[in-house]
Amino acid sequence: MPAKPRFDAETWVCLVPPRVDRPVINSVLYPVYMHRGYFITFEGLDGSGKTTQLRRLAAWLESEGHKVVTLRNPGSTALGDRIRSIILDSRSEDTLGGNIAPHTEMALMFADRAQSIHEIILPALADGAIVLCDRYTDSSEAYQGAGRELGSDRILAMHRAVCDNLQPDLTLLLLPSFDSSLHRARRRNQRTTLQKGTDENRFEREDDGFYRRIHQAYETIAAREPQRVAAIRDDAGIDQIEARIREIVSARLPATVI
Ligand code: TYD
Repeated sequence: MPAKPRFDAETWVCLVPPRVDRPVINSVLYPVYMHRGYFITFEGLDGSGKTTQLRRLAAWLESEGHKVVTLRNPGSTALGDRIRSIILDSRSEDTLGGNIAPHTEMALMFADRAQSIHEIILPALADGAIVLCDRYTDSSEAYQGAGRELGSDRILAMHRAVCDNLQPDLTLLLLPSFDSSLHRARRRNQRTTLQKGTDENRFEREDDGFYRRIHQAYETIAAREPQRVAAIRDDAGIDQIEARIREIVSARLPATVI
């Protein structure tokens, strides 16, 4: 197969008159940006099993000969790992001497994301890789927009401003029933606390209302963007869900992805 021409943001920018603002160019071009790779995100409530499925999909794609890059939000860059330890550690608020305000939490999530786009996602896509990202902006819309009640509009505006509106090609949304994912998340957190003596996730202390709003927000996102979001709603076992994910990815992956 002939190699696809390589376009990057710098090439595009050279074609645009200098008086046009760079952020304006990016916001127009990134959505249609001709990267050669393929960008997949995994979403779902804590305990939905997405991290296990991401690992399995990565292993399968690699065994099929694809170049695969995996990461998670927040984290995976040096800066992101620091941000992660601040926002997820349930002891942060004691150390910082006060609550992390919802707006601060949102801004830190986006700072992490911007860095991961710059350091990992765009270079990997330009290199032709399939990028698998554990959580992305849908998490901000669900957790900060709905859970913390900051509203979707604010999150989507942040996404345009900070992430140049870079959208995944496909989002795999794992939505097992609300009760089973909450139960799994709480059990996992208790196990981690017992094993490591730390309670990593501030979010897992939240009440059921917080999680119900997140669950509803994910449903709303799936209904709003059916082309991008593939929702897997059943409570089937890990192997069946893995098989379903392979089917979805095989059907969507463009033949041009190496
Ligand atoms: P993590 O331990 O990665 O949880 P999980 O394995 O369930 O993905 O912790 C990520 C937590 O951060 C999770 O509770 C969701 C939350 N989060 C947000 O609130 N907003 C965001 O934008 C992102 C990316 C994550």
